[in-house]
Amino acid sequence: MTAINSVTDLSKDGDIAVITLNSPPVNALSAGVRDGLKGAFDAAIKDPSVKAIVLICEGKTFIAGADISEFGKPPKGASLFEVEDTIESAPKPVVAAIHGTALGGGLEVALCAHYRIAVPSAKCGLPEVNIGILPGAGGTQRLPRIVGVEEALAMVTSGKHVNAKQCLASGLIDELAPEGELRTAALAFARKIVSEARPLRKVRDQNEKVEAARGHPEIFAEFRKAHARQFRGFNAPENNIRAIEAAVNLPFDEGLKEERRLFIELFTGPQAAAQRYVFFAERQVWKLPDIPDDTAQLPVRKVGIIGAGTMGGGIAMNFANVGIAVTIVEVQDAALQRGLGVIRKNYDNTAAKGRLTAADVDKRMGLIKGSLELESLGDCDLIIEAVFERMEIKKEVFAKLDRIAKQGAILASNTSYLNIDEIATATKRPDAVIGMHFFSPANVMRLLEVVRGEKTSKPVIATAMAIAKKIGKIGVLVGVCPGFVGNRMLAQRQREAQKLVMEGAMPWDVDRVLYDFGFPMGPFAMSDLAGLDIGWVKENSRGETIRDVLCEMDRRGQKTGAGYYDYDEKRNRKPSPVTEKIISEFRARAGITARKIEDGEILERCIYPMINEGAKILEEGKAIRASDIDIVWINGYGWPVYEGGPMYYGDAVGLGKVLDRMQSWHKSMGDVFKPAALLEKLVAEGKGFKDLK
Ligand code: 3HC
Ligand code: NAI
Repeated sequence: MTAINSVTDLSKDGDIAVITLNSPPVNALSAGVRDGLKGAFDAAIKDPSVKAIVLICEGKTFIAGADISEFGKPPKGASLFEVEDTIESAPKPVVAAIHGTALGGGLEVALCAHYRIAVPSAKCGLPEVNIGILPGAGGTQRLPRIVGVEEALAMVTSGKHVNAKQCLASGLIDELAPEGELRTAALAFARKIVSEARPLRKVRDQNEKVEAARGHPEIFAEFRKAHARQFRGFNAPENNIRAIEAAVNLPFDEGLKEERRLFIELFTGPQAAAQRYVFFAERQVWKLPDIPDDTAQLPVRKVGIIGAGTMGGGIAMNFANVGIAVTIVEVQDAALQRGLGVIRKNYDNTAAKGRLTAADVDKRMGLIKGSLELESLGDCDLIIEAVFERMEIKKEVFAKLDRIAKQGAILASNTSYLNIDEIATATKRPDAVIGMHFFSPANVMRLLEVVRGEKTSKPVIATAMAIAKKIGKIGVLVGVCPGFVGNRMLAQRQREAQKLVMEGAMPWDVDRVLYDFGFPMGPFAMSDLAGLDIGWVKENSRGETIRDVLCEMDRRGQKTGAGYYDYDEKRNRKPSPVTEKIISEFRARAGITARKIEDGEILERCIYPMINEGAKILEEGKAIRASDIDIVWINGYGWPVYEGGPMYYGDAVGLGKVLDRMQSWHKSMGDVFKPAALLEKLVAEGKGFKDLK
């Protein structure tokens, strides 16, 4: 065995050279890995006793892509293209042996090998689109030559990881190795290739599948149309599509040049920078400064949910989906049956789309039990309360829980706004009480705010975060304050949206500006969807707000066919003259003359107060880091990933500008705009949120 460098070894097994990479955690193509590969392949090619070469990786995965942390830094070492050329033009067969994931640059390297073998658990993909770029090392030119244009389009624009079995079917890999026996199988495969004198098969020379799509521009036109909604606002999907078009319409080397051009266009743009930031921010949230990774966790085998309403049912599904038994408790049988019925319907819908089998549905439903007795939660390891949002009810439930829950159980509340510390006072074990704030629909939305109370113990926090990961959520640890991180900032936007309407904008103007910014919908369309009557009580309604009047007229949102907007039978919305009239009357009563409000002002008024509030949240230590706030907004509220989140956006537009606006509104419109001390400090020091440690 020869060490080529600290991450690359070259050894021989008879006349087969084996190049082994070992660069934890994911064998990313850092300068060291590229240099190692180049050196090892050169040596194996030069050695006349070597008949074939196997490339394999140590650790949990094959090469998972370029080293994203090197992006934007001056290039060092061998280029990826040099490595690829060396492999592809090797005068002896090269076999890539894949386990874990071959992603991005990793798959591109494997595509330069003449043959590929993988274990059944392996996956292949080109996920570059998720960080705002495209496969820039030949992936868009080689992939369609093997899997065909349609599958290549789907893979590069979704970034999906394709399992080994499907890869075998599409030709992306040539052989499956028994699980755990990759090295032996790869060596045997290499020997077979040598003994059968198989050709040095280069993907670049296989033109059949791209030629079949030549002269069929409709393939691309239809693909664009079918995915327009999904790709809206993002630059990367379009350039990925164009690169595949180039593979179809240009000779290989010309196609490579076009891929490069399209890659650089994305790579140097602001979206890729934002998406790269989000990639690392998503991985940061799990790092808790005062709770080490080895903090003892509590075993969670059985979960109890209280309340089978909008949230309780969705929360229960998360656990059943990963095989954990759940009991849902309701007060009345009718509510329980309705809740269980909604869960069943959700699963049936998924099954109808082919994403679950009937057996899966039965298995999951089998894990969910209903009960009308709180006592049936006595043996649960984790209990999540999702009853009405009223402090006295929550306290009553927690006091009862304190009596019936076993010692060591975690008592969580799904409250949106209420004080977790106050809820905890209803128990004699405030260290066991925590907030687990899911987002609606709870079975779909990825965000889970884990709310740490003053007395919550570290094992309870560590367990709640681990549970978040287990059920496929992105857990963000936040502190107790009204609305926590997400809803507290949302309240700023909602207030300004309402005020803008009083000053002269229409709800559809505000919605359009936020939609164009990249949100899935604006605040008024969102209210119509959720129902204007959430928290509205008919008996107490005195027509004091526009919302009150709309609800009193039974315009309670989409479900009643009208709200801020009018809806047709297909739920398409259009601006409503009724709403317009109500707004005019409100303005007249308040003595306000409507003014024309520019789109730019609408955007700034909705977003800068959120950034300011985010600064207050950081100041108060209610979020660990600015990037955690960004992750909350991207995963809980549809903030566009390519804008990086509100705090990232603040840095991008310049905190000086944000502060300047806040100061001017503070003077003209009062204290709600008072700039955060942290914002002032950062601007005075010429720094951004990114500079906070
Ligand atoms: N570059 C640098 N660091 C990377 C990385 C990469 N490509 N991929 C993962 N890491 C780091 C993570 O930041 C994390 O670091 P940390 O422990 O310090 O937080 C560590 O590796 C482990 O990653 P995960 O926590 O994500 O581990 P998982 O086991 O959950 O997932 C994975 C493994 C599926 C490989 C996942 O990390 C992943 O999807 N990685 C990104 C893959 C990717 O996007 N590849 C394309 C890169 S771009 C490219 O190749 C351009 C080319 O076309 C020229
Ligand atoms: P919901 O009104 O749809 O459901 C509440 C359910 O709790 C009802 O079915 C009710 O019968 C039941 N219930 C009331 N008291 C009970 C008791 N003592 N024991 C057992 N069951 C009882 O309410 P929703 O929307 O599900 O909200 C629940 C909690 O989740 C609230 O705290 C809310 O703030 C929070 N939340 C709601 C979100 C939403 O979008 N709806 C989002 C995130 C959190």
